[in-house]
Amino acid sequence: TPSPRRVKTASAQASDELVSIKGWVRTVRRQKTVAFVEVNDGSSLEIQCVLPLEGVDDATMEEINELTTGCSVHAIGKIIESQGGKQSVELSATSLRIIGSCPGETYPLAKKRHSLEYLRTIAHLRPRTNTISAVARVRSTLAGSIHAFFQKEGFNYVQTPLITASDCEGAGEMFRVTTLEIDDVEKLPRAKDEEGNMQAGVDYGSDFFGKAAFLTVSGQLGGETHACALGDVYTFGPTFRAENSQTARHLAEFWMVEPEMAFADLTSAMDNAESMLKFVVSTALEKCDEDLTFFGNFFDKGLKDRLHKLVNVPFVRLPYRDAIKYLQEEIAKDPSKWQFPEVEFGTDLATEHERWLAETKFESAVFVYNYPKKIKAFYMRDNDDDGGETVNAMDLLVPGVGELVGGSQREERLDVLVEKMKELDLNIDDYWWYLDLRRFGSVPHAGYGLGFERLVTYVCGIENIRDAIAFPRYPGNAEF
Ligand code: 4AD
Ligand code: MG
Repeated sequence: TPSPRRVKTASAQASDELVSIKGWVRTVRRQKTVAFVEVNDGSSLEIQCVLPLEGVDDATMEEINELTTGCSVHAIGKIIESQGGKQSVELSATSLRIIGSCPGETYPLAKKRHSLEYLRTIAHLRPRTNTISAVARVRSTLAGSIHAFFQKEGFNYVQTPLITASDCEGAGEMFRVTTLEIDDVEKLPRAKDEEGNMQAGVDYGSDFFGKAAFLTVSGQLGGETHACALGDVYTFGPTFRAENSQTARHLAEFWMVEPEMAFADLTSAMDNAESMLKFVVSTALEKCDEDLTFFGNFFDKGLKDRLHKLVNVPFVRLPYRDAIKYLQEEIAKDPSKWQFPEVEFGTDLATEHERWLAETKFESAVFVYNYPKKIKAFYMRDNDDDGGETVNAMDLLVPGVGELVGGSQREERLDVLVEKMKELDLNIDDYWWYLDLRRFGSVPHAGYGLGFERLVTYVCGIENIRDAIAFPRYPGNAEF
């Protein structure tokens, strides 16, 4: 006889057909005449398997007695309408077999509730929990819809290197790649001096087979080379930051989505970021409804309303100077409420400032643009009409997270770019290939970077970015 068709626990529908369920046991309750076994197979809902114990064969009875949370099982039966339970259906089981047993005494997830902090210490098992499996599904849907968006808009997906000599953000936050023995590495110079300042013109040695090399902080520069040939492109890959931050918004390894558009200015970059976010969030609302309902119930009551608002309301676009003005007015009311009450032109906005703008002042996603030149990266295009004080840069701030996107129009004028790089003490020779793009058929171009884990945090309404990626990398944590 053919084996029964396998159905997913979340999408099971009542019918007369004999079907099979394969998954992991969440709970077991044994009564005199019946056993209730909740099974989850990685889809968004578990199903209750109801197994009458009268008249079952000895083998099944033995299995029932050994069932524990965490066992993998294969159940066969019919899906029927159910009265109680989370699901409107249940499996009326006629057979149940343990595939892999799970000793309750040592299984770290045997107990029902665990804190997210504890779950981070068992990152290899936490996808079996409701919360982290829901994050994983939303993450997958978001990644798929990001590709879908750019593909439908005609962007080419390009892959840029992870090992590189270029510090895109110029912040000296790169991990070094080395083929040297540990003892030798300690003798090499550091990117930052003892006070934490970037050291200009340091010889970083030649530890990557005779050359200096680091893990990339951004795929942008490689993205620009392709935009200046293919037109519109995007990268979506891992990036690394060697900053020692223990915050709920920073990771040492995170994924970044970086579109780059040729013949484009800052407004096109903002327009594109807004359409992209609206598209991916509406896709998540549609495809991850059960998971987002779960996050709404257990993490963030206003979640779906906020996501619907993001999709339906135009984002605010606010010059940096106005952002400073609003913040100064608000802070003046009660400076003691602020951790960083000093705000003036030139201030790099702190998360509390960003969140106040998005959450309180505008209750919306807000693009802040035209930032002061001195707090932004070398490649951003100078605003010609602003006394040389600002650059064509934008950050997108969203409620609950703060900065979600950072982008700019790029400086396409060779002489202006070289001058800027010199001012910042960058080694021009290291960027010869980047400057070639300005020597040979330069075009105005623009792009941005979206921190993928910040997007996952935002869409799931969870607090900590360490729960937005399967194996978070932060200072002191590179296990698993
Ligand atoms: O603002 P950032 O540093 O910009 C860039 O790297 C540009 N080269 C991007 C571009 O124009 N192509 O980073 C972009 C985004 C931030 O807005 C934030 O969402 C995220 O990346 N990000 C981080 N996410 C997690 N952990 C960190 N340590 C992050 N640093 C930045
Ligand atoms: Mg930024």
